[in-house]
Amino acid sequence: MLTEIAAIAREVGAYILCDEVYRGTDQQGSGTTTSIVDIYEKGISTASMSKAYSLAGLRLGWICAPRNVLERVAVHRDYDTISVGMLDDHFATMALENRDKVLARSLTITRTNLATLAAWMETQPTLSWIKPRSGTTALLKFDLPMSSYDFCMSLLNETGVMFTPGSALDMEGYVRIGYANNPAILQEGLKRVSDFLARHA
Ligand SMILES: Cc1ncc(COP(=O)(O)O)c(C=O)c1O
Repeated sequence: MLTEIAAIAREVGAYILCDEVYRGTDQQGSGTTTSIVDIYEKGISTASMSKAYSLAGLRLGWICAPRNVLERVAVHRDYDTISVGMLDDHFATMALENRDKVLARSLTITRTNLATLAAWMETQPTLSWIKPRSGTTALLKFDLPMSSYDFCMSLLNETGVMFTPGSALDMEGYVRIGYANNPAILQEGLKRVSDFLARHA
């Protein structure tokens, strides 16, 4: 698909800015898909420590792009940021020096938890989905007589579980679950959601 998108962009000489922050969380193989910069000469890839490296909050990321783009980005960055925080730099360096271990841990969590979520989905008559092939979130379509906002507010108030309403993503009728948390918490959360759905069905 990326190759097809690159072919369309190439026809008009357009750049493609590709947010690759979830690179490294695929459910199959090594976990890492091809980057846009490996297949398109005007590809721009950005990523950070926040997802595959499990270090959201460090405020540290990177960009890979053609040299002329990097030069302009560097000037702009000097203007508004100057330097990365030293503590962020310290901890990101530790993680990157242990990249293989950190990424393997993330893959174990996302793959184990998605299997847990998939098994649970089989037991839920009011929910349907397209099982994700990468990332840390899934969209669940629900068959209940309420808006996604009411669904999420009731769920939060009654059970303490938080989903994102599809309406916030222009997808009414859906809720979004993040499944990359602690496996025991995910299991307990799903149990509570089962009870909630049974009560409201
Ligand atoms: C697709 C995507 N890109 C980027 C980010 C943000 O990453 P960072 O906080 O490191 O800028 C997020 C975080 O929610 C995200 O979901």
